[in-house]
Amino acid sequence: MTARACVIGWPVEHSRSPVIHRYWLDQYGIDGAYEKEAVRPEDFDGFVQQLWTQGYVGANVTLPHKEAALAAARSADEAAMAIGAANTLWLDPDGALHASNTDAYGFMTNLAAQAPHWNESTGPVMVLGAGGAARGILYGLLKAGVPRILLTNRTKARADALADAFSPAVEVIDWTARNEALPGCGLLVNATSLGMAGHEPLAIDVSALRDNAVVADIVYVPLETPLLAAARARGLTAVDGLGMLLHQAVPGFERWFGVRPEVTPELTAHVMATLGDG
Ligand code: ATR
Repeated sequence: MTARACVIGWPVEHSRSPVIHRYWLDQYGIDGAYEKEAVRPEDFDGFVQQLWTQGYVGANVTLPHKEAALAAARSADEAAMAIGAANTLWLDPDGALHASNTDAYGFMTNLAAQAPHWNESTGPVMVLGAGGAARGILYGLLKAGVPRILLTNRTKARADALADAFSPAVEVIDWTARNEALPGCGLLVNATSLGMAGHEPLAIDVSALRDNAVVADIVYVPLETPLLAAARARGLTAVDGLGMLLHQAVPGFERWFGVRPEVTPELTAHVMATLGDG
């Protein structure tokens, strides 16, 4: 029987997940399918409770359903509970809905792949942003044992709330003080939408970072953001946002289709080729 999974969103049209999962289905010769499901917020709960009846073994969940996905599940992994949101659902053998959050896994795995020399003692980490993406990244960094994280966000109250929810290792600094706080940092992560095509640029001066520092961006349109270009120009290691997107898809695919897929340069090129069309 063809195993089917889907991505559930509202809207869902811009999701890149079908491109990734269909590539892997084809690559591994699996009799499977991956669909897009546009589901209104008021219909979400009913939809996921009937996932099996609709012919699905599991799903990815994107905006605005990530919190509802966690609430709808019978069980959830530690990451989903700590982050307060889920992006991956599957049915346990007994048919119960299980929620997972693979964003932290995706970020940390991509960091290890693109910046193998980085480790949790390379120096304090600065994270820009306090939305859903920043939440997943903070969880991943803390789980990896990073002893000190400087968190900054335009709306400081959101950063304060994240720091309170997570750990005393997270220190909030004013958005306007981000450049002064940068010297000595070993990793800078942009988890805001700044630098994305059509958005404002991110104003930060990477020259103050350590010589062995790593700069990571969650933005992947363009793939080489001005921030990453500046980091490379200074001889720093740049980690792009597309890698996080590809790696976060791995655990779901493995659950649904029984094969642990690989993130390869060919997959990256394939997804890149679809990014231009919106
Ligand atoms: P996501 O869940 O994808 O992280 P989000 O919750 O909309 O998305 O968060 C976007 C992030 O980009 C936030 O940290 C936001 O800052 P605010 O919390 O102050 O809104 C940040 N951001 C967006 N536009 C920005 C801008 N012009 N200047 C500074 N930060 C900005």
